Amino acid sequence: MSFNYRDGELFAEQCRVSELAAEHGTPLYVYSHQRMVENWRQFAAHWPAPHKLCYAVKANSNLAVLNVLAKLGAGFDIVSGGELARVIAAGGKASDVVFSGVAKSRNEMAYALEQGIYCFNVESAAELERLNDVAKAHGVVAPVSLRVNPDVDAQTHPYISTGLKSNKFGIAMAQAPDVARRAQGLSNIAMQGLDCHIGSQILTPAPFLDAADLMLELIVTLRNEGIAISHLDMGGGMGIPYQHENKLDVSAYLLELQKRAEQVGDLTLMLEPGRAIVGNAGVLVTQVEYHKPGVEKDFLLVDAGMNDLMRPALYQAYHDIIPVTQHEAGTSIVDVVGPVCETGDFLGHARHITANEGDLLAVMNAGAYGFTMSSNYNTRPRAAEVMVAGNKAQVIRAREKLSDLWKGEQIMEMPE
Ligand code: LLP
Repeated sequence: MSFNYRDGELFAEQCRVSELAAEHGTPLYVYSHQRMVENWRQFAAHWPAPHKLCYAVKANSNLAVLNVLAKLGAGFDIVSGGELARVIAAGGKASDVVFSGVAKSRNEMAYALEQGIYCFNVESAAELERLNDVAKAHGVVAPVSLRVNPDVDAQTHPYISTGLKSNKFGIAMAQAPDVARRAQGLSNIAMQGLDCHIGSQILTPAPFLDAADLMLELIVTLRNEGIAISHLDMGGGMGIPYQHENKLDVSAYLLELQKRAEQVGDLTLMLEPGRAIVGNAGVLVTQVEYHKPGVEKDFLLVDAGMNDLMRPALYQAYHDIIPVTQHEAGTSIVDVVGPVCETGDFLGHARHITANEGDLLAVMNAGAYGFTMSSNYNTRPRAAEVMVAGNKAQVIRAREKLSDLWKGEQIMEMPE
């Protein structure tokens, strides 16, 4: 296992977490190479070529992480020109990239066309027209998949549910045939596939399969009209247990998806997993600054805050918080809160943790949407990131220096 106690000490693979913290300071993100590889293989094992897996870069976009996945043959799902530049800098191939996102700019389109990405996941009729213009100006044909909104309830947190017709994402199912016909008629667009992404942190196959059925039906309709559709991309959204939830049975989902897809004939399937690859492969290590007894409850004030891990503040997301060095469990119930000047700055409420000043805690399952959503709020340098492989640990992103934080800022010169 990747994060385990040995003689009461938390290890990341073969590395003692307390030693990593002593060497690199806290707050510190620690990732397990082995866990990422195994998570990837869990998908790849049930996904024979020509089916493709495109890792969702937004979950964790560190170059080292992207490089590990590129070496395993991953494609990538990006949502910005910045993410494309990262993939290329990390050794990924543009030809394995799909470009999602509701509001792609002309510049981003041009950059992606120049790099020769695999396809654009187009989210609206207006985007299709713009892409056709940009491709024409570049003298190229843009490969396109239409992102359709299947209007299924993913039964996840409303902020990370994306497949309802009330969401801003995708083209409504009822409008999809018209947009596909239009795509077919545009000189610099090559219709290639359909895609959908119904939301994130979904723990049962049912909503995915409901969406797949609707998408397959649409493929049949379009093919009957002579519109060639060669791939179906079902997006990401495969969830992981954070607390006591049941695990999503990934292999059952992947096999059932392939079975259903076979019924419409030749079709390449694609997925865009993010969280399922990196979520449980990372922890955030933080040190207790103070134990503060309160009137109603006690607080553990730690050196990681909402700027380092935003998920609890933003979604009331639950992350396990465990001591790096185990000791006799006390009875105290505490709120684990950060140093940021916001009441919403917490990592965990009402936890059974006994810890004192200087003790280290690990916030579990922080590998996805942890560092990538971090900020400099309160002028706090972003945390360092370390990757562990066996007994080797390497800094994959240095802690920010204070002077990094006002880079590009200037004091305004006023007339005398
Ligand atoms: N594909 C598309 C088009 C997406 O929008 C997303 C995530 C993914 C793939 C990857 O989804 P995953 O497999 O990681 O669930 N910040 C939130 C999650 C937002 C997900 C946004 N889209 C969180 O911390 O829970």
